[in-house]
Amino acid sequence: MRVLVTGATGRLGRVAVPRLRDEGFTLRAVSRRPGAGEGVEWMTADLASGAGLAEVVAGMDAILHLASSPKRHTHEIDVLGTRRLTVAAGHAGVRHLVYVSIVGVDRVPLGYYRHKLAAEQVVAAGEVPWSVLRATQFPGFLAELLAGASRLGPVVGDPAVLAQPVDPGEVADRLAVLLRAGPSHRVEDFGGPEVLRFDEAARAWLAARRSRRPLLPVRIPGRLGRELRAGALTTTATPTGTRTWADHLAEKGRAPA
Ligand SMILES: NC(=O)c1ccc[n+]([C@@H]2O[C@H](COP(=O)([O-])OP(=O)(O)OC[C@H]3O[C@@H](n4cnc5c(N)ncnc54)[C@H](OP(=O)(O)O)[C@@H]3O)[C@@H](O)[C@H]2O)c1
Repeated sequence: MRVLVTGATGRLGRVAVPRLRDEGFTLRAVSRRPGAGEGVEWMTADLASGAGLAEVVAGMDAILHLASSPKRHTHEIDVLGTRRLTVAAGHAGVRHLVYVSIVGVDRVPLGYYRHKLAAEQVVAAGEVPWSVLRATQFPGFLAELLAGASRLGPVVGDPAVLAQPVDPGEVADRLAVLLRAGPSHRVEDFGGPEVLRFDEAARAWLAARRSRRPLLPVRIPGRLGRELRAGALTTTATPTGTRTWADHLAEKGRAPA
């Protein structure tokens, strides 16, 4: 199966590309920058302008759409860019588009999540038969969040917010199954093996870094806080991934600096 992977340079894409290649998929990896990787064809395209999209979708059986821009031009890239991609893919006769979304996009009142929900709707309304998988947070993203939350010294955060980190490699394995299954619309959510409170995740992260920084609890107000504490970012769906937050921290600890 010939599969185009958008967002191939991202947290998930970097892991998914070699796994899918090793599973026997013929891959075309795409981002705005030229990349390299053995056994994979790299091309460039920009979802914001549409440049290169017709070329990258040509000859593909399926698309794994991972590209996203949470911080800048999100409407242009995630919503309108996804529309541009589905239109180009429809013209090229692509038979399956798999879109990766986030658990809680329909509950958590954040601008990025509203755009992800809108992008899901674009995929569902498009011409190309589709599947949507919502996943929980990747550990690398959680670690970046914690680093940001401790910029000023203590780790600042709402201790009771719930998260369920999932290994991107295990998400990639699930995506391989979905590609083989064909268009399935919205499939069962995919989360990590354990639900953690923010303070538990932060303490484990600090311990792995041998840091004595304190936690500074700050309750997130309003509906956003209520949803995050009520578990809007988590799922009871099974099966889950198996790699834990502790596994991720141990692996990072072993990695060369
Ligand atoms: N991070 C999480 O915890 C998490 C959890 C669940 C689901 N997800 C979803 O999983 C998907 C992948 O997430 P991620 O964390 O791997 O994302 P990421 O690390 O932020 O990577 C985003 C990718 O999008 C590409 N991109 C950005 N703007 C683009 C544009 N205008 N045209 C073409 N490509 C563009 C980037 O490539 P270049 O910059 O090289 O062009 C990069 O490869 C996203 O849809 C995200 O919403 C993420």
